[in-house]
Amino acid sequence: MNCPIIAITNQKGGVGKTTSAINLAQALVLQDLKVLLVDLDPQGNATQGIGIHLEVIQASVADLIRDRNFPIDGTIYEGEGLDIIPATPLLARVEREMVAMTNSELRLAHRLQSLRSKYSVIIIDTPPTFGPLMNSALNAATQLIIPVDSSYFALMGIKELQAEMEEIQRGTNPGLEVLGYLLTLVDPTNISTQTKDTLVHNFGERVFETQIRRSVKLREAPALGKTIFHHAPDSAGAKDYLGLAYEVTTRLGMGEAITHSKRALSLVSGVSHE
Ligand SMILES: Nc1ncnc2c1ncn2[C@@H]1O[C@H](COP(=O)(O)OP(=O)(O)O)[C@@H](O)[C@H]1O
Ligand SMILES: [Mg+2]
Repeated sequence: MNCPIIAITNQKGGVGKTTSAINLAQALVLQDLKVLLVDLDPQGNATQGIGIHLEVIQASVADLIRDRNFPIDGTIYEGEGLDIIPATPLLARVEREMVAMTNSELRLAHRLQSLRSKYSVIIIDTPPTFGPLMNSALNAATQLIIPVDSSYFALMGIKELQAEMEEIQRGTNPGLEVLGYLLTLVDPTNISTQTKDTLVHNFGERVFETQIRRSVKLREAPALGKTIFHHAPDSAGAKDYLGLAYEVTTRLGMGEAITHSKRALSLVSGVSHE
């Protein structure tokens, strides 16, 4: 099976894209999958969130886009079970330069092709704006996961995002599809419930059954440079992202690779707490 490339995308900031990219990636690692995380946000939140300091980075995703001959292996940093192509603020400059590059928005897609035989899943964290980087992610992806925060304004941007996606489908990436809509930052308020009802009304089964609850542990983890599985393996957040990983692999038809989500759960207790 061809390695899926999943972009976690929504042009609204603060909806849990980066949190979901990091923790879904690590949850898939716990299911014994070889996972590559690609940070495509110049803020480098995913990079720092898994404990890589921006100062030590010699090469990043910006080099892959800027220089078609840049060796891709030099941009991969190895974490504990999870590999990442990091992003630094240089990516903001490269995004501005992209207007003058040939096929700039297809470059990431081309570069990632060579890695599809090395990984079981590639996950891309995207910036909170439409533009050349977002388009690069939409061109590189085979599927999208769209996190939707449980707020009153959450659904307003979704139509706009769908229009962008359809534009890319009509043009350069006809195979692109939505793997699922993911409710994030869920709390016991009426607004949360209303957002969920509206989302299910519009997108039916495309809405993941798993919802990511709002939790202090999930909020704390990135500042410590840890995934939720290293910070608080028994927390609600860890359980929620394992549930998501199980649904994701099922939807991707990779279910056989994973014996059962319970196995992943038992692996979590084995994660080191150092
Ligand atoms: N389920 C959650 N519970 C609590 N805080 C969360 C949760 N998901 C995300 N956050 C926090 O909300 C903020 C925005 O999340 P982030 O993943 O960075 O969103 P985005 O990448 O879409 O901008 C961050 O401070 C993050 O730690
Ligand atoms: Mg982010």
